[in-house]
Amino acid sequence: MTAQHHTELQNLPPDLKPELLPRHVAVIMDGNGRWAKRQGLPRFMGHKRGVDALKDLLRCCKDWGIQALTAYAFSTENWGRPQEEVDFLMTLFQRVLRQELREMVQENVQIKFVGNLSALPQSLQEEISRSMERTSENPSIRFTVATNYGGRQEILHACRAIADQVKQGLLQPHEIDEATFERHLYTAGIYDPDLLIRTSGEMRISNFLLWQMAYAEIYITETLWPDFDRTEFYRALCAYQLRERRFGKI
Ligand code: FPP
Repeated sequence: MTAQHHTELQNLPPDLKPELLPRHVAVIMDGNGRWAKRQGLPRFMGHKRGVDALKDLLRCCKDWGIQALTAYAFSTENWGRPQEEVDFLMTLFQRVLRQELREMVQENVQIKFVGNLSALPQSLQEEISRSMERTSENPSIRFTVATNYGGRQEILHACRAIADQVKQGLLQPHEIDEATFERHLYTAGIYDPDLLIRTSGEMRISNFLLWQMAYAEIYITETLWPDFDRTEFYRALCAYQLRERRFGKI
């Protein structure tokens, strides 16, 4: 980031050092259901409030000069939830996309969905394609939504694509290195996450960005996702800035 860029950051708390901010933040948004239960509300209300929290976080990342945000919206295991909840989530994703597209275009957000998208309802797939096409050139922040996503599946997907290239004679096995592999991941071209935030106290990676998370700093908070606001994010960033990142060196 340039000095010029620093001066443009909006309302970055003075004790956060711009040069030590993560370039890419990943979030596992856990605790929507528990949040709703605590309020005496149905689970779906937790997911609705979860969307608001995600929108606020995206805006905050953009304001503070963080270049990429990736959120785990739906895992390959989430199909095992009651049908009613799965249907609600699919409808919610579609509605949010339709409602927010104009603002994402205005705010220069580049949105990308990753995961096995072909298993999603057709109407949602269409909304996803539209939003990705309309925002593909946007420069301000790369917002990736993992939907029907699994880290192991992503790795297998990359392996198959590489094996296919070898079979066609386009690539030799000894030429396959980390860079080759990364080009075949859904996140090709995006820095690996520097910081993973998981809410609601769960201490697992849950099949999220397995390859990309090799050196991510992990921050876990007891806060439930719908309550994860700018102040909570600020706390996570303060903790991150105190970490000494050695990448295996001394
Ligand atoms: C985890 O809480 C949350 C989810 C499975 C859904 C998260 C989805 C959103 C916040 C919407 C994102 C929308 C778009 C368009 C990107 P949980 O249900 O597992 O909560 P619990 O652990 O308390 O049961």
